[in-house]
Amino acid sequence: MRIILFAGKGGVGKTSVAGATGVKAAAMGHKTLIMSLDIAHSLSDIFALDKALMDRNRGMPLQVDDGLWIQELDIGEEIQRNWGEVHQYIASLFNTTGLDEILAEELAILPGMEEVSSLLYLNKYVREDAFDVIILDCAPTGESLRFISIPTALEWYISKIFKIQRRVVGYVRPIAKRFYDVPLPEDDYFKALEHLFVRLEGIDTILTDPAITTVRMVTNPEKIVIKETQRAFLYFYLYRMCVDAVLVNRILPGSIKEAYFDDWKEAQRKYLRLAEEYFSPIPIFPVKLFQNEPLGKEGLAGLAEDIYGERDPTGHFFKDWPYEFSQEDGKVHIKMKLPYITKEEVEVHRLADEIVIRIGGFKKHILLPRHLAAYKDITAKMDKDCLHIVFGGKGNGKKT
Ligand SMILES: Nc1ncnc2c1ncn2[C@@H]1O[C@H](COP(=O)(O)OP(=O)(O)O)[C@@H](O)[C@H]1O
Ligand SMILES: [Mg+2]
Repeated sequence: MRIILFAGKGGVGKTSVAGATGVKAAAMGHKTLIMSLDIAHSLSDIFALDKALMDRNRGMPLQVDDGLWIQELDIGEEIQRNWGEVHQYIASLFNTTGLDEILAEELAILPGMEEVSSLLYLNKYVREDAFDVIILDCAPTGESLRFISIPTALEWYISKIFKIQRRVVGYVRPIAKRFYDVPLPEDDYFKALEHLFVRLEGIDTILTDPAITTVRMVTNPEKIVIKETQRAFLYFYLYRMCVDAVLVNRILPGSIKEAYFDDWKEAQRKYLRLAEEYFSPIPIFPVKLFQNEPLGKEGLAGLAEDIYGERDPTGHFFKDWPYEFSQEDGKVHIKMKLPYITKEEVEVHRLADEIVIRIGGFKKHILLPRHLAAYKDITAKMDKDCLHIVFGGKGNGKKT
């Protein structure tokens, strides 16, 4: 079983690239499902499918080729099915605050419910071994990050809050009913949550196992987009999800000679170099801007050729973590393996919210999580083959 997530800012080409990857995976003999996690589904458009056909097949996997299925989740229905009791309770809670019923229903769709629905499918398919490859076309970056944090958040909620809350509510319900208008959750609410939790069990292990799941960041050679990719990369990394490729989409091909595009081409070269500084040793896949939209099976197969060439798209293009955050003696360490490098060759700088590591002509940027960016006290040292950057140490800011 193999799971590949495509993540990135809105409009960068996630759905196209996910579709292309699926087409090629299926053509190479893998039983493949592409699942869209974006509410603004566009998989069926990219595959140039008839809307009526999609409607008839609403929310379920639809076979589009030999060994290839696509699935666009019907969020409303999924929420009813998976969250019925929970949703009802929350809606009734909002309702007692004077909101009208429709609005209360709408507000009761908590952030994360949609994502949980897709996690439930994912877990089910993995357990049933239903496909060789599942490709996830994620929602734009902000929301897809919420998706990866759900299993951890749920586990925390269940172990820390849920059990206590259930017991307390059991005790106070008879008394509270007489004094408060606010409804307390019935036991069905707790049962529903518990049932959900059971069906989600194990999904975090699957998502953080680099032998099964890897993330491919999709980006464009533009300043803002690259910066956002860098932040998303950091979060995936903090959640211990392995990023195995960065796809830089919409590169102007060399065959364009018009002077009008010269500045664009120069800027794109600059951002490609920057992407290498940010993400190496994770491989960068440049993807050309096509003459027209890569649509339908043929269009997507052409896009896949440009991305992967002869390679099997289900392969692991990178297996390790480029660097590691850890806590030691109450201090945060960033550790980075730098074999064959002596300490004289390494230079570490702090630049706004980034750490810049320079080794000869090679430069590496590491974006800092917000809580680390505030640290003033940073020291760096080489220990065997490993560079340690320590936050909160007693150094004077820069030392190599
Ligand atoms: N390399 C490319 N060349 C030409 N058009 C592209 C390319 N990649 C994506 N597109 C087009 O750009 C638009 C947005 O792509 P899409 O895959 O829907 O992005 P996202 O899923 O990230 O929002 C679509 O119309 C798609 O056909
Ligand atoms: Mg999309």
